[in-house]
Amino acid sequence: MTPAPFEELSVHFQDLKPSEIYHLVTSMVVPRPIAVVGTIDENGIDNLAPFSYFNAVSSDPPCLMFSIGHNRDGSKKDTLRNIEKNKEFVIHIATADQVQWVEAMGEPLPYGESERAKLGLTLTPSQWVQCPRVKEFKISFECVLEKTLEIGSNTVVFGRVLGAHFDESLKIPNKMIIDSQELNPLARMARGYGKTCHL
Ligand SMILES: Cc1cc2nc3c(=O)[nH]c(=O)nc-3n(C[C@H](O)[C@H](O)[C@H](O)COP(=O)(O)O)c2cc1C
Repeated sequence: MTPAPFEELSVHFQDLKPSEIYHLVTSMVVPRPIAVVGTIDENGIDNLAPFSYFNAVSSDPPCLMFSIGHNRDGSKKDTLRNIEKNKEFVIHIATADQVQWVEAMGEPLPYGESERAKLGLTLTPSQWVQCPRVKEFKISFECVLEKTLEIGSNTVVFGRVLGAHFDESLKIPNKMIIDSQELNPLARMARGYGKTCHL
């Protein structure tokens, strides 16, 4: 199939403000999965926050990464504070029907207040880390901090995956793989959300 011709627009990023770059790039690098990252603070209070600068980066060792910016007032996000302290976290994969929870979790709450409790979600113990998981998510990864990397105002967090939990009904028979169509993951798109589907 010959692609339809199009007029090309080129932009040098030196000519854009950081906020313009943010909006342009996040409208182009799509779809992005949503990591709902669970951590605990020094008093054991759980914290949840969504991140779309998120992906898998290696399998041996198994590593996931997500990138944390600062709060609008310049302060550190609770997720980063907790990870720096405890060096562990849980990454849950958000599904399309969970978009309202994701939006609610993205709103700032004072340090030490639980987004999970506010939404009435259920904690369940993890198997390999201290930080608990949230039962309502169909996939969760228990992670220990592998390393962090500062990129400008962001901190990229690499987590080594110790193990995963998933809804058994998603598993493809006789294979260690899940049916991603059945999962129906939530995807971050330009100015909103989408679903992904197989071609
Ligand atoms: C869909 C979605 C994706 C987001 N992705 C990111 C991200 O990749 N990096 C980031 O720093 N903040 C991201 N945010 C904003 C954080 O979730 C938000 O700042 C949150 O309040 C941080 O919570 P915390 O202080 O408990 O860590 C996103 C928010 C939403 C709703």
